[in-house]
Amino acid sequence: MSIIDKLKWRYATKKFDTNKKLSAEQLDELLEAVQLAPSSYGLQHYKVLVIENAEVRTKLREAAYGQPQITDASQLIVFAAETNIDEGYVKNFVDLIADTRNVPRESLVGLEGMLVGAINGRTPEQRLLWAQKQAYIALGVLVAAAADLGIDAGPMEGFDPAKFDEILGLKEKGLTATVIAAVGFRADDDHFSKLIKVRRPKKELFIHI
Ligand SMILES: Cc1cc2nc3c(=O)[nH]c(=O)nc-3n(C[C@H](O)[C@H](O)[C@H](O)COP(=O)(O)O)c2cc1C
Repeated sequence: MSIIDKLKWRYATKKFDTNKKLSAEQLDELLEAVQLAPSSYGLQHYKVLVIENAEVRTKLREAAYGQPQITDASQLIVFAAETNIDEGYVKNFVDLIADTRNVPRESLVGLEGMLVGAINGRTPEQRLLWAQKQAYIALGVLVAAAADLGIDAGPMEGFDPAKFDEILGLKEKGLTATVIAAVGFRADDDHFSKLIKVRRPKKELFIHI
């Protein structure tokens, strides 16, 4: 299948087959795709929670308007934005670059100064919004990668972030739930899988200049 055929095959899955689980390899590959998602400066301003625990998922479902995907999918993925992107966060990131690329830490002082400037040039609210935008990019990569791997996914923002934060203890971790995705395999009788995709026509969507 071409990437276009795969993107046509995928849909926001509403009803998952509760008996079908991702294999460890499938989950690992999907998460590796998320790990490879681009982010502004590469800061990866979020953490990604992989939730299997049935009890926790029952509570999360209540905090997500009862959406059944939360409990019925193979895993629930929560993209949680970092709420404390500060100079320490930048320092850790620059340390990681030095380690990964095996370059002297001193050679990255200029980059560190530039990143600190990018942080300090934003208000705390702007930093959070910035972090949340990056989380959505990671969601997009997950949705596309899932399609490529023949895995179903249901992206969702229909949930109460404050309740998710409480249930998952995210505030203490300097995180806030931003967007989520259920992953697994569609139920045969999910009628959403049979619906024709509605997309605005190319001539309306794209502006060529
Ligand atoms: C960020 C985002 C949030 C969404 N939130 C929900 C949601 O809470 N519940 C739901 O059933 N579908 C949700 N959807 C699915 C969209 O309704 C769906 O992607 C859209 O209608 C296009 O259909 P398709 O993805 O099946 O092609 C969400 C999708 C995105 C990208």
